[in-house]
Amino acid sequence: MTDALTQADIDREIAAERAAYEKRLAGGAPAEHHPRRDYAPYRSSVLRHPKRPPVAVDVSRDPELVELSSPVFGSRDVTETDNDLTRQHTGEPIGERITVSGRLLDRDGRPVRGQLVEIWQANSAGRYAHLRERHDAPLDPNFTGVGRTLTGTDGRYAFTTIRPGPYPWRNHVGAWRPAHIHFSVFGTAFTQRLVTQMYFPGDPLLPYDPILHSVTDDAARQRLVAAYDHGLSVPEFSLGYRWDIVLDGPRATWTEEGR
Ligand SMILES: [Fe+2]
Repeated sequence: MTDALTQADIDREIAAERAAYEKRLAGGAPAEHHPRRDYAPYRSSVLRHPKRPPVAVDVSRDPELVELSSPVFGSRDVTETDNDLTRQHTGEPIGERITVSGRLLDRDGRPVRGQLVEIWQANSAGRYAHLRERHDAPLDPNFTGVGRTLTGTDGRYAFTTIRPGPYPWRNHVGAWRPAHIHFSVFGTAFTQRLVTQMYFPGDPLLPYDPILHSVTDDAARQRLVAAYDHGLSVPEFSLGYRWDIVLDGPRATWTEEGR
């Protein structure tokens, strides 16, 4: 963290990264759907990303075979309320109830079935129920912010939850994360797990966030923002947001490396 660094400094760096990307594109370079590891506006990422190329491993020895094939989650591992974050405590959590649903698809648009999808998020005040959380917004005794579900035969997942609040972080002075939900798609083994974040349309903080803008390509970044879907809204209960996750190919959802 650099104390003197302001949002204006970060905005300038984001604009410079974007201009450099557009120059690469104009020069015939391929579109970049993933962030550069040394994306400077996201300060802590610069400090911790790998400096050396990946080491190839002999997959017949490491990871061990069992790590490549297990665990596989089945319907008995996920209980009825695991995908409803508003029903995990005795009382109702505070905040705007939302329904978040979409499909998990492969690069050809085929549904990926029976996949474990996990989410974690801050409460409506922007506070995580986590020991290392430093933001002093109130905890909600009726909200843990963790859910999981399995995709159906059409690749669809659905969560009922509370719209998370934005929260400050210490990337620079006045840094606030836009509201977001962390997503994990497990695959069939630990070695396949992918992690990403979903954002909300119209959030005024979207233009300022260096984590979101580390996905420099406009179309790729836009795919991280859910769409309001009135058909998903539950009358007199919740507002609906649709967000598809594409695992690979030119329309892939950006996922975090090294998780
Ligand atoms: Fe977060």
